[in-house]
Amino acid sequence: MSALLEVDGLVVDYGQARALDGADLRVAAGESVGVVGESGSGKSTLGAAVGRLLPRQARISDGSVRVAGEPVLDLPPAELRRLRRQRLGFVFQDPIGSLDPTMRVGAQLRRVLGRGGDLAFHLGRVRLEASRVARAYPHQLSGGMAQRVALALAMASSPELLIADEPTASLDSQVREEVSDVVFSLAAQAGTSIVWLSHDLPGVARRCGRVAVMYGGRVVESGPAAQVLGSPRHPYTAALARSAPALAAPGVRLEPVPGRPPVLTGAAPGCAFAPRCAFAEDRCAHERPEPITLGEQSVLCHRAGELEVIA
Ligand SMILES: Nc1ncnc2c1ncn2[C@@H]1O[C@H](COP(=O)(O)OP(=O)(O)O)[C@@H](O)[C@H]1O
Ligand code: SF4
Ligand SMILES: [Mg+2]
Repeated sequence: MSALLEVDGLVVDYGQARALDGADLRVAAGESVGVVGESGSGKSTLGAAVGRLLPRQARISDGSVRVAGEPVLDLPPAELRRLRRQRLGFVFQDPIGSLDPTMRVGAQLRRVLGRGGDLAFHLGRVRLEASRVARAYPHQLSGGMAQRVALALAMASSPELLIADEPTASLDSQVREEVSDVVFSLAAQAGTSIVWLSHDLPGVARRCGRVAVMYGGRVVESGPAAQVLGSPRHPYTAALARSAPALAAPGVRLEPVPGRPPVLTGAAPGCAFAPRCAFAEDRCAHERPEPITLGEQSVLCHRAGELEVIA
């Protein structure tokens, strides 16, 4: 069976800066996949590319994106709009910015649902009362309420795939949990797959069935969340797991990942993690690692097979 989302060898540049350097990602129907990595690792670029929603200055020079078998990067404009409308939903970090400031919430929802749309139902699903918010303008809502409205809009057409790009990053911690709960429970009810882009590793560990770890514009490790985060096979995943408070075993000292993320201006000649990697060998600097399958994990490291579980 083919996956709902298949990204293969995707390369994206912004001028001289390379944001994706051959990214691969697979998402099955109904699955929730957390995409994690430090800021600048390429998460937002990957998420936007799924709907061909990249900023104008972005250039896709290689690779493919398929949603339900449809070649997203090759579709003519009308087909692309249909695919977005029928199959995809998006929520972003800034909820107010993603709503139309000039229209009341109810009118924005009706535009998606049609005149007969049931506002109370769609707002109720995101735990908002239509009597309180339908007549409000976006700037009159709190961040958490605005994000629920954005989610109601994204989920109104029951998309097969929801791309959520740090949707709770701008909210305070309590609201963050509530909004995350709403996203995951609503998607589960609707049978919608989620790609949850986040740097919040503990949050991803709690909510996502699978994890994809990005580094230097590539997915360097992916697999079931418990395995990837509990028994990482890639040295970067291991370093990331050690730096995330809620994942560390009691008594284990937290260590930030030493060194800095790479700034790429073209294809990395070898493994982008080599300058920070305690296990690097000569070949790591000049041979690009290809995915190695270890059980249910896929790992982009020359030494993945030799290194013991390195958590
Ligand atoms: N609009 C843009 N113009 C130029 N460079 C960009 C733009 N968006 C992202 N980049 C660069 O691309 C890389 C990946 O960024 P991004 O996809 O936003 O990663 P993340 O979401 O993981 O922080 C970074 O080096 C970033 O500086
Ligand atoms: S390929 Fe080499 S540098 Fe990269 S993570 Fe593996 S051991 Fe480290
Ligand atoms: Mg981002």
